[in-house]
Amino acid sequence: MEKSATINPLGPVNYLRLSITDRCNLRCFYCAPAEGEWEKLPAPEILRYEEMLRLARVAAAQGILKIRVTGGEPLVRKGVVEFIRNLHQVKGLKEVCLTTNGVRLKELAPALHAAGLRHLNLSLDTLKRERYRELTGGDHFLEVLAGLEQAASLGFHPIKINCVVLKDLNDGELLDFAYLARERPFQVRFIEFMPTVSRRKWQRHFLPMAEVRQRLAALGGGEPVCRTSCGGPARIFRFPGFKGELGFISAISEHQCPECNRLRLTAAGSLRPCLFGQAELDLKGPLRQGASDAALGRLFREAVHLKAWKPKFSDPETLHPCRQMVSIGG
Ligand code: GTP
Ligand code: 5AD
Ligand code: SF4
Repeated sequence: MEKSATINPLGPVNYLRLSITDRCNLRCFYCAPAEGEWEKLPAPEILRYEEMLRLARVAAAQGILKIRVTGGEPLVRKGVVEFIRNLHQVKGLKEVCLTTNGVRLKELAPALHAAGLRHLNLSLDTLKRERYRELTGGDHFLEVLAGLEQAASLGFHPIKINCVVLKDLNDGELLDFAYLARERPFQVRFIEFMPTVSRRKWQRHFLPMAEVRQRLAALGGGEPVCRTSCGGPARIFRFPGFKGELGFISAISEHQCPECNRLRLTAAGSLRPCLFGQAELDLKGPLRQGASDAALGRLFREAVHLKAWKPKFSDPETLHPCRQMVSIGG
């Protein structure tokens, strides 16, 4: 039976971000370390799919309605299509979603669609091939576009395009991205750069969302779209004549802790109450030591109690997640 908001043991938390791998086939400017490789988890440390499915069932029984599969890059993990098919069978879940960089999307979109997936978020920070190579370290721009077309023609919906705005790198393309939402039924979301890899990079390339909005002023104000109960932090707007919508994620300048409805499970099986915070609860240990569903469910409730609910920071300079974004999944 599906839970209603009033009897949800997790209160307002109904959304789990599930990172299935810390591996990735790109090295994005804002995510990968400036030098060398990020430290990868040894394979036995990463949850097996059947372990994730068990936790997904426990989470759904506690009131989680939506699971977003993330990475690293989730489509590099073998068996991801079957996993997503099985996730759709979890009782109580209303939405299964995927965030991907799209490099393997063209190849996998038909199978993902057949597995039941419809909700797709795609990371794409530039509409120029050469800049794509510079920002991601991979010459996959055309493949990603082909993947996007493939997904659109198969009927994935919604398709949300994530553009992390980087001053002096891609901020000349804001209108081009907006026009993409005018021409195509995509939700294009502009995202504030979070200081995840290097403070210096962040100081140099951070552009506040207020300035992004200002640079798009020629489009007019737009009409705000109400958030759904499982919605994320994006503020969504419709503009006259647009087939799609625009979204704005002010992860830094207007971080909205009291509205947060999510928990994060890392690939290593740790439950993170907050993206920006040190707290983590180990689920893998208890899971592998035979914990009951009830005991695991308690850990989900404990994670909700550990959520900050109000920003612990007053200054973005002090804001950082305790590990790299790649192992948290955004
Ligand atoms: P949906 O509403 O389900 O589409 O989720 P989403 O927009 O959170 O998912 P997505 O994986 O596409 O993430 C988009 C951006 O939002 C990324 O840059 C994330 O790091 C950022 N983000 C994800 N979760 C949070 C959060 O809890 N708070 C804030 N401020 N930003 C977040
Ligand atoms: N700042 C903002 N967004 C980020 N993402 C990854 N790292 C950062 C960062 N430092 C985004 C990716 C992807 C989503 C899961 O997280 O672009 O769309
Ligand atoms: Fe990979 Fe996503 Fe990080 Fe880019 S942002 S390096 S695609 S995990």
